[in-house]
Amino acid sequence: MSKIISISNQKGGVGKTTTVCSLAAGLKKKGFRVLMIDLDPQGNLGFSVGAETETCATIYDVLKGDVKTQFAIQKSDTADIIISSILLSGIELEFTNTGREFLLKEALKPILGFYDYILLDTPPALGILTINAFTASDTIVVPMLSDIFSLQGIAKLYEAVERVKKYCNPSLTISGILLTKFNPRTLLSREIRGTAELIAQDLNIPLFDSYIRSSVVISEAQSIQQNILDYSPKNNIAKDYLQFTDELLKKEA
Ligand SMILES: Nc1ncnc2c1ncn2[C@@H]1O[C@H](COP(=O)(O)OP(=O)(O)O)[C@@H](O)[C@H]1O
Ligand SMILES: [Mg+2]
Repeated sequence: MSKIISISNQKGGVGKTTTVCSLAAGLKKKGFRVLMIDLDPQGNLGFSVGAETETCATIYDVLKGDVKTQFAIQKSDTADIIISSILLSGIELEFTNTGREFLLKEALKPILGFYDYILLDTPPALGILTINAFTASDTIVVPMLSDIFSLQGIAKLYEAVERVKKYCNPSLTISGILLTKFNPRTLLSREIRGTAELIAQDLNIPLFDSYIRSSVVISEAQSIQQNILDYSPKNNIAKDYLQFTDELLKKEA
């Protein structure tokens, strides 16, 4: 059976899409079968792995029931992917039926045997798309910037997770908070890590020992549509993401 992991934080620009892409690459390198699904209407994940976006079916078509899940899957150099569509942004108003939280969970059923890991990239909001992701997931990874405002958002995210657990998915867990764009050499970053540890403890959410350092190399890789492990395997970020992949695997084993 596939393990389904949401990469989520309602804040934009925290490294969700980068984490999905790099974790997928890390898991692939270990020999796992990996599918990425982009639930963000902005469609950054599809671009960053060079997916075809003109004619291929999207997760919007799948959620609407117009296309079978299997037929929306594309191959990319990083891993298999189902791309998003800008039409996803209207889904809040378009899908109003009872049970709309379960659309993605239902759509994934036919393909569960084909992948070891399914990674869900989520939009910067706690709306119906993120709720669908949480409902379908076994666990959540929360990328977080090392700044004080990010810490404040975690309590809101935690509330959303608790609601999903109560009404839609009792076995959902949070694997942990992953600090991104982290600079271990600055005092501020170290202070933030201390605060993050306190908050994590307070909410009973684990904080990953691994963290992801900051480097412009990541934007270079994305601009030529490669994942960081292929683009610059010796870069610190590549090492950080591999270490994170190992830590996550140990935790979820
Ligand atoms: N570790 C990092 N160091 C430097 N820049 C990063 C890092 N991770 C992501 N970025 C950059 O930050 C921006 C936002 O990252 P992204 O993964 O798209 O976040 P999100 O999906 O949460 O909006 C992108 O331009 C990306 O290239
Ligand atoms: Mg994103």
